[in-house]
Amino acid sequence: MEPEFWQQIWQQNDIGFHRASEHPALVRYWPHLAEGMGGPVFVPLCGKSLDLAWLAGQGREVVGVELSALAVDSFFQENGLTPQTSAVDAFNQYRVDGLRIYQGDFFALSRRHLDGARLIYDRAALVAFPSDMRRRYAAHLDALFPGPARMLLVANSYPEGQMDGPPFSVTADEVERLYAGNWRIELLERRETIDEHPGLRKRGLDSFISEVFLLEK
Ligand SMILES: C[S@@+](CC[C@H](N)C(=O)[O-])C[C@H]1O[C@@H](n2cnc3c(N)ncnc32)[C@H](O)[C@@H]1O
Repeated sequence: MEPEFWQQIWQQNDIGFHRASEHPALVRYWPHLAEGMGGPVFVPLCGKSLDLAWLAGQGREVVGVELSALAVDSFFQENGLTPQTSAVDAFNQYRVDGLRIYQGDFFALSRRHLDGARLIYDRAALVAFPSDMRRRYAAHLDALFPGPARMLLVANSYPEGQMDGPPFSVTADEVERLYAGNWRIELLERRETIDEHPGLRKRGLDSFISEVFLLEK
């Protein structure tokens, strides 16, 4: 999706993906992600997710990136935080103790922005992109983490042709194609969740499979 698409989504507050509480898969699988690997957690395409605050609450530094200034402003405002802001390369950096968000384009990030993070939490980031951009996204993410790293990936798939994304349908086979070169992939959970998503049913879906993967390199 082009940046204008997302800017408009935020301006119109059309943010059905935003959750009013932390994601249950993050809470459930945080021990799998964190075990034996210290340091910051990187959250690509973070929106104004409450998962950022939840991760900070686990005592980890959190580094997010998000295109929309409206989303980033809302995150800090809604969580009662007053960030320091500064220009860093192509980004506006918003910073409070333990948490920083780079407002700008994920594809402009480089390793030096990540504070040595080795953990990644992707919820609704990979699936936010159409297929050609998913390949670019996965390649860039892989390049950002040249050494040992671990990622919790919360993705989804649904029957071909029933709905236009986002969210786009990303099958386990595709996760394999995108990442298997450099990452070991473990499927942690696979569940039918259409009953939890009446909005998606209205958009034409009769099935919405939520899948959670743990990837390690
Ligand atoms: C589906 S939302 C998911 C947000 C968040 N992960 C959550 O769970 O609520 C995708 C987010 O990615 C942001 N985004 C899209 N393209 C981006 C890019 N190239 N760089 C940074 N953020 C981007 C959008 O503005 C949007 O907030």
